[in-house]
Amino acid sequence: MRTQVGIIGAGPAGLLLSHLLHLEGIESVVLEDRSRSYVENRIRAGVLEQVTVDLLNDAGLGGRMRREGLVHDGIEIAFSGVRHRIDFRELTGGKAVTVYGQHEVVKDMIAARLAAGGQILFETRATAFAGIDTTRPRIAFEHESGTGAVECDFVAACDGFHGVGRPAMAHRLQVFERRYPFGWLGILAESPPPSDELIYASHESGFALYSMRTPEMARLYLQCDPDDDIANWPDARIWAELHMRLDDGERALLQEGSVLQKGITPMRSFVVEPMQEGRLFLAGDAAHIVPPTGAKGMNLAVGDVFVLARAIADHVRTGRSERLHAYSQTCLRRIWKAQRFSWWMTSMLHLFPGATPFERRVQLAELDYVTGSPAASKALAENYVGLPFES
Ligand code: FAD
Ligand code: DHB
Repeated sequence: MRTQVGIIGAGPAGLLLSHLLHLEGIESVVLEDRSRSYVENRIRAGVLEQVTVDLLNDAGLGGRMRREGLVHDGIEIAFSGVRHRIDFRELTGGKAVTVYGQHEVVKDMIAARLAAGGQILFETRATAFAGIDTTRPRIAFEHESGTGAVECDFVAACDGFHGVGRPAMAHRLQVFERRYPFGWLGILAESPPPSDELIYASHESGFALYSMRTPEMARLYLQCDPDDDIANWPDARIWAELHMRLDDGERALLQEGSVLQKGITPMRSFVVEPMQEGRLFLAGDAAHIVPPTGAKGMNLAVGDVFVLARAIADHVRTGRSERLHAYSQTCLRRIWKAQRFSWWMTSMLHLFPGATPFERRVQLAELDYVTGSPAASKALAENYVGLPFES
């Protein structure tokens, strides 16, 4: 099989790259280990930055998002029993975020690719690479009925944190990593919104986050032990913790409903440098992971493939390689700013096991400052709605 760009992974990064290349008249083949229904139903991130929304609209992928997505003009930050609003529109000159599940974005992208005759090979696992230092790299793959190979001009490993792209260039990578002593227990529940906006709560029992997917469906998170077993968390215990950390004094905030999905995710910050070797490029979670407190994971994946699609298109059109050579450097500037923001939000809002009373007081002072000072609120808002792709 021959194509111009071989893409591994049908997550947001791989699918969007394939679509953006198609808009430039460049062919690609996407290899995806899982089934279509699996990737379309995988519940993950939910907050789209303004720049991501703008790109999806410009690329013709925003129709359903504009109808069904929930535009949020701000967030609330709760601590010491009081909720404080950060007004994004006012603080960023009119920008906002949109709450629209990652799996919905993935559904829209798959539909668009297939409607345009794009090739996505589901249940097909990339296994190895050859010739990434040549102009004719190859990706070997296996699927139910046997093995095969894609010959291409470029390989984009958009295969997530556990993919095969990063290990293939491990010998020359520098790894930067921080693990946090907590995880997030996340649930999807039938529960009407207690608030129109997300609530990030720093409570003496630990962090909690109220988010939503639709006006009837809540997405809720609790700080927990990263090694805890979800079996230790029957629904009644989850609701009791959520009430304690999120309810507003005397007034119960959350309405309990059936829990449709639950799981525990550990939290880490992770970056590899560089994100390319020869004609192999890493994008999205394959190259970096952020703790979810800043809602940046999927948005960073989108930013990487925006840069990569432009670089490949420039090369195909003009034969010039400057943008391709600069890919890693261009992406890493923005990635490190999102890493900083995600680390900062995580550090400010979570209870660190073993923290001293002094450290907690400093944390509360920071929350007080961030929510009380227009300058500090503005810095939070500017980062939350998303920095420009090439910044
Ligand atoms: P992925 O979405 O991981 O896509 C990679 C794809 O590659 C997958 O479909 C995988 O099956 C496929 N693949 C892997 N190996 C191979 C192979 N060898 N051959 C073929 N295909 C392969 N971010 C937030 O901002 N907020 C959140 O609340 C949040 N929650 C999350 C919860 C979980 C459980 C996880 C894992 C992530 C969460 N994230 C969250 C992060 C966010 O979802 C990711 O940043 C985003 O999915 C990155 O997109 P991607 O396309 O780079 O990778
Ligand atoms: C959601 C996830 C996040 O990590 C976050 O910071 C805000 C919202 C969500 O899944 O809705």
